[in-house]
Amino acid sequence: MSSSRSEAFFATAPRGLEALLQQELLSLGARTAESVAGGVAFTASWEECYRANLRSRVASRILWKLGEFGYSNENDLYGAVRGLDWPGRFSVEKKIRVNVTAQKSPLKSLEFATLKVKDAVCDRFRDALGKRPDVERAAPDVRIHVFLEEAKGTLYLDTSGEPLFKRGWRSEPGEAPLRENLAAGIVMLTGWQPSEPLLDPMCGSGTFLAEAAAMARGRPPGAKRAFGFQKLKSFDAALWAKVSSEKAPDEQTPSLYGSDSDPEALKSTRRTLAGAGVERWVKIEQADVLQRVPPGPAGVMLMNPPYGERMGNADELARFYPLLGNHLKKHYAGWRCFIFTADMRLPKLIRLQPSRRTPLWNGALECRLYEFRIVSGSNR
Ligand SMILES: C[S@@+](CC[C@H](N)C(=O)[O-])C[C@H]1O[C@@H](n2cnc3c(N)ncnc32)[C@H](O)[C@@H]1O
Repeated sequence: MSSSRSEAFFATAPRGLEALLQQELLSLGARTAESVAGGVAFTASWEECYRANLRSRVASRILWKLGEFGYSNENDLYGAVRGLDWPGRFSVEKKIRVNVTAQKSPLKSLEFATLKVKDAVCDRFRDALGKRPDVERAAPDVRIHVFLEEAKGTLYLDTSGEPLFKRGWRSEPGEAPLRENLAAGIVMLTGWQPSEPLLDPMCGSGTFLAEAAAMARGRPPGAKRAFGFQKLKSFDAALWAKVSSEKAPDEQTPSLYGSDSDPEALKSTRRTLAGAGVERWVKIEQADVLQRVPPGPAGVMLMNPPYGERMGNADELARFYPLLGNHLKKHYAGWRCFIFTADMRLPKLIRLQPSRRTPLWNGALECRLYEFRIVSGSNR
């Protein structure tokens, strides 16, 4: 397969980060890129697809588009899937998993549709080779995705494998860590530059800090992991060796600071930073955010206070926000302070005027990234 021919791909991303992903994919060499809800449709060569998997900080997955078909029932779906040359795409020894998602599909059961797709793929293999691939849900080699709309379906093969937010450096889940690609996207949305300090005073397991450090150091987020495209017949090992040995253009020396009131969280931060190989760029200390003073006259403060069913009592948070607002006004003049939360009461209770609010989704949870530019004197 020619490595420079253009193929069609779809990259998924946390909702709210589509425009950022579009810019990122274009900067990584995509030839065209169009953002839609939930992701970006783009065209690129295989070389650019490998590079996007290795270097995209925002994408969740990159799917290779195999084709589209019209349908109105399960039999149409079966026929369209069976019509594709699956044995030409991957070998029968590979373990497969099928994922069907739908929007306004007339089909009654997605489970049944998934079964039909799996049967169609297996039947096509059996016709060609007399045997069929096994199904493996937890750790498949090859993931087949089908997206069903009202009368149209699209077939994809996943080129990422494990989702791209799995950087291969997180040792343990910790308490409500953010997904790495959402955290990276948030750091990008703040406009932080590695030449200015970045402080996360509620650093939890250190996701913002690890992502910011990796960005500044030009570390590819996928350097420590494998990808789905390596399991496909189109895989070009020499091309991948070239792409994966490319050096980052510039390495900067960032000033990163993290603190948390919980010593266990700090241990977790240290493990995350060590896993990512960036611990030397980040100064960690134990502190209550309401005591934490900034490490310089200006910079970016970014935090993700506890919120949700498992964490943070609503009354406690309602008492905390005005104190946080006072603390920022008193000590953070000159800083751009960003708070990422699902708690829509925050802007009212913190008693500061946000200069920007960006809607984002953490999974199914609607959140906001609030920016407060703190100036000396009253901010209200
Ligand atoms: C939602 S978690 C942050 C998760 C983090 N963004 C990550 O991805 O791992 C909130 C953190 O705030 C910390 N925290 C709660 N109250 C605090 C306070 N008063 N001062 C400093 N940290 C606090 C908790 O220990 C917890 O680690």
